[in-house]
Amino acid sequence: MRFLANARNDRYFRDHIGGKVAIRGDDSLKKQIANRHFFPSIPPTIVSSRAPARDLLQVFSNSYFFIQTFFYNLDSTNQQHKTMKLIKLTLLLLFIGGPVFAQDLLVKELTSEHKKNPIGIDIMQPRFSWKILSAGNSIMQTAYSLRVATDSKFSSSKIVWQTGKINSDESILQTYAGPGLKSSQRYYWQVKIWDNSGKESKWSEAAFFETGLLSRDEWKAKWIEMPGDTLRYAPSPYFRKEFNLTKTIESARVYVTSHGYYELHLNGKKVGDQVLTPGWTSYSKRLQYQVYDVTEMLLKGDNAIGAILGDGWYRGSLAWGDNWRIYGKQLGLLMQLKITYTDGSETLVLSDESWKATNNGPVRMNDIYNGETYDATKVLTGWNTKGYSDKNWINVKTSVYNNNNLIASEGAPIRKIEEIKPVKIFRTPKGKLVVDMGQNMVGWLRLKVNGQKGQVVTLNHAEVMDKFGEFYTTNLRAAKCQLNYTIAGNGEEIYEPRFTFMGFRFVEVSGFPGELTAENLTGVVVHSDMAVTGSYESSNPLLNQLQHNIQWGQKGNFVDVPTDCPQRDERLGWTGDAQAFARTAAYNMDVAAFFTKWMKDVSADQKNGGEVPDVVPDVLNPQTAVTAQPSAGWGDVAVIAPWTMYTVYGDKKILETQYPGMKAWVEYIRKKAGDGYIWKGGSKYGDWLFYHPPVNNHTEPDGYTEHDFIATAFYAYSSSILAETAKALGKTDDARTYSDLFLKIKEVFINEYVTKSGRVGTNSQTSYVLALMFDLLPENLTARSAKLLVEDIKSRGNRLSTGFLGTPYLCHVLSSNGYTDVAYDLLLQENYPSWLYPVKMGATTIWERWDGQKTDSTFQDAGMNSFNHYAYGAIGDWMYRVSAGLETMSPGYKHLILQPHPIKKLSYSKASFESPYGKISSGWERTGKTIAVIVRIPANTDATIVLPAGKSKVTIGGKDLSENKNFSDIVASGDKLTFKAGSGAYVFEYTEE
Ligand code: BGC
Repeated sequence: MRFLANARNDRYFRDHIGGKVAIRGDDSLKKQIANRHFFPSIPPTIVSSRAPARDLLQVFSNSYFFIQTFFYNLDSTNQQHKTMKLIKLTLLLLFIGGPVFAQDLLVKELTSEHKKNPIGIDIMQPRFSWKILSAGNSIMQTAYSLRVATDSKFSSSKIVWQTGKINSDESILQTYAGPGLKSSQRYYWQVKIWDNSGKESKWSEAAFFETGLLSRDEWKAKWIEMPGDTLRYAPSPYFRKEFNLTKTIESARVYVTSHGYYELHLNGKKVGDQVLTPGWTSYSKRLQYQVYDVTEMLLKGDNAIGAILGDGWYRGSLAWGDNWRIYGKQLGLLMQLKITYTDGSETLVLSDESWKATNNGPVRMNDIYNGETYDATKVLTGWNTKGYSDKNWINVKTSVYNNNNLIASEGAPIRKIEEIKPVKIFRTPKGKLVVDMGQNMVGWLRLKVNGQKGQVVTLNHAEVMDKFGEFYTTNLRAAKCQLNYTIAGNGEEIYEPRFTFMGFRFVEVSGFPGELTAENLTGVVVHSDMAVTGSYESSNPLLNQLQHNIQWGQKGNFVDVPTDCPQRDERLGWTGDAQAFARTAAYNMDVAAFFTKWMKDVSADQKNGGEVPDVVPDVLNPQTAVTAQPSAGWGDVAVIAPWTMYTVYGDKKILETQYPGMKAWVEYIRKKAGDGYIWKGGSKYGDWLFYHPPVNNHTEPDGYTEHDFIATAFYAYSSSILAETAKALGKTDDARTYSDLFLKIKEVFINEYVTKSGRVGTNSQTSYVLALMFDLLPENLTARSAKLLVEDIKSRGNRLSTGFLGTPYLCHVLSSNGYTDVAYDLLLQENYPSWLYPVKMGATTIWERWDGQKTDSTFQDAGMNSFNHYAYGAIGDWMYRVSAGLETMSPGYKHLILQPHPIKKLSYSKASFESPYGKISSGWERTGKTIAVIVRIPANTDATIVLPAGKSKVTIGGKDLSENKNFSDIVASGDKLTFKAGSGAYVFEYTEE
């Protein structure tokens, strides 16, 4: 669309059109090595030992760059520069003195539908992705061949589909186009590739995907429930059954879901490592089931299976106002175990009327907001093993529900991801015993205790301590967040809850027998299991802590659904927060599967007129309601988030799937705005939580942005993204319609909100930010408006005044209009309001409000003061894309733009990102007057590199850039040197002016 091509400030969606690429990282070297993401097994710059003599120089320089890169990753600070230089030299000599590795072209990290070896998918045409590792530079795939079989040896009789050699450079999301897939079948697949240097890889190792129950008719199990189990805060029902298996077992799968949470047990053990299953969706429309491979858990002969249910999102407290049973008041289980014997025969074990139930077990109460009460004196020892006497248990009842809502789990499973130990145990001035976990975390505690039967240990959770050093829970509002454990008295006992989670850093312990030590408590961090893909680091420790806080905000709030906060009586899928943070989230972690699933939740809850609810799953509107009053910047998640996922993962299917919802949202606004094109009344929340001075004395202006202005700006933005989406999907008519719509809104917007001198809206920062970011200004006023924005920032002493909607774009707008220095001033501002103010106040997560805790250590209004809200963490995106310069020019990072922005206030900044194509790095480091720019470009991608080198000569390995055959299209313009590069790891140097 031409209007986008003309857009000056909008490279953050415009530039993503038309391409493809990407990796993974973490913030500590140790973790990177542990995750094997530090560098791929083949350093991409080392050439083959069979290299002809004329290439020896290249070998040398490539090796040098590899080592440089290694050290860059190892320690980017330049304090130990001299020592480092010596070590580098020694290593370099050792390195080139020894044999140079020769490796083949390798294909690795195979995924189907963004997942490694998924079990239980219900996608009929899964898509395959792979990554290429190669020793050469500028390596591109020229062809691939894929094959799919029902055995891992790919014997010819078992091959179900093979592509033959396909000339293509596509290595992500290639669609299965073989015969229809069968239910409950494991399919193995592998791929081989050819590259542009004439090499052919071997077949990759086999990966697999396994189908779930592809038709609802295959569900033979019945819903089972415990009679009378319909009360609030009722004890958890336990279910059990024994069964006999007569033959030798070849394989076994269990398909299971529930109303409420379930924990499934087989022969004494919990099945699988997922928690809070079956996750959260709008249950009446979409209910996820999980599939587990239980082959190893079964026995020939007698077996016992059982389940414990919890209230969860289904029946428990949800949304403020003491709401509960939003989806239903009766918990239930649906379970189907399929066993295949070695003789090929099959048998099913099903949930049905033959099961028994009791609620006389130890889980006396469980609730997401309020915690769990566990009485260990009531433990049902052996309940999940064969031979247990269940004579006091009662018969279950079966119920019929329409199983049309059953879906395979598509998101990222929720798991216990890591554990942390207390850093301090102390008494408050009032004498309370408090444990400091050192990190505001989400999940729960594991308690180790040894005491007398009947003693009760109580754990209360809080995010912060108040200014008097006392335990502070007022901001949790009605959520009790309490664990009560009654000791059984059998020696050492270990307890952790299963049907609740809390957001906390501090724990108040009462009733603990004996002396409490760090040994007794472990923090179990729980969230959707998303691979860590990004890292950002700089020479400023406060900035590094900010990055840490952003990552922990994500960990705490990505629990099957992106929630606003994890602690108070809320924890809902607020759509505005999710759209603001989506791109940052996608740098930090692999959120492809997570958002694929949640965007379908958004569509499922979108109302008939196209309205997108404020929260998804929509628990704020009665389930039957057909309307909801949506809000600009919140409802726009329907458009912004799929586009973001497409940008990052190159996944066109998410656009196809979401397109009807994207269009319905824009059409909803179109109807509301009518011929006037101003969306009046479209913004309920405005620029939520923008800076507001404590006392508005009319000399200190607040950051208020008019609501209709916001609504109209987002109307324009969503229309433009919709136009681009239509274009990407080949819907030419729609592309024209929505680009025309955008232009019309823009015209009216300018008329209504922009003065001839470039003042915009209420003159607030967010007014300028939205207008500049969404390309809503006349070309000739852009520079003037950007200057006015900068003047406002300066007049506040380099401080921001933006809220949830302006903040994510603020620094982008500055840097793309020539004010990167001002963006850095804001980023590095330590005084309130700023990103680093909470860091200086000791924050370990992102706060909901700029002044959650004020400078005098008092708190903001407890009615809304979360200390773990990711929205303002959206600055992470700018840190990756602009500070370190790691950006894509096309969907999926196939074509990169690496453009680091050095600044005098820092001595280095660097980022890495595990893209769909492999690991990308970008960053810079200053040593004296020399700036080294270090980049890594994965195979099958290429990059445009832009260096702010001014007039200075850019060298690589001590030689002029132009002498190196890996770089082309070298153009010097203004203070920038731009050139193209293929895959490899490179270190460029220039003298800073
Ligand atoms: C939530 C926010 C949300 C907002 C909408 C709050 O209660 O915590 O994050 O976006 O409401 O105004």
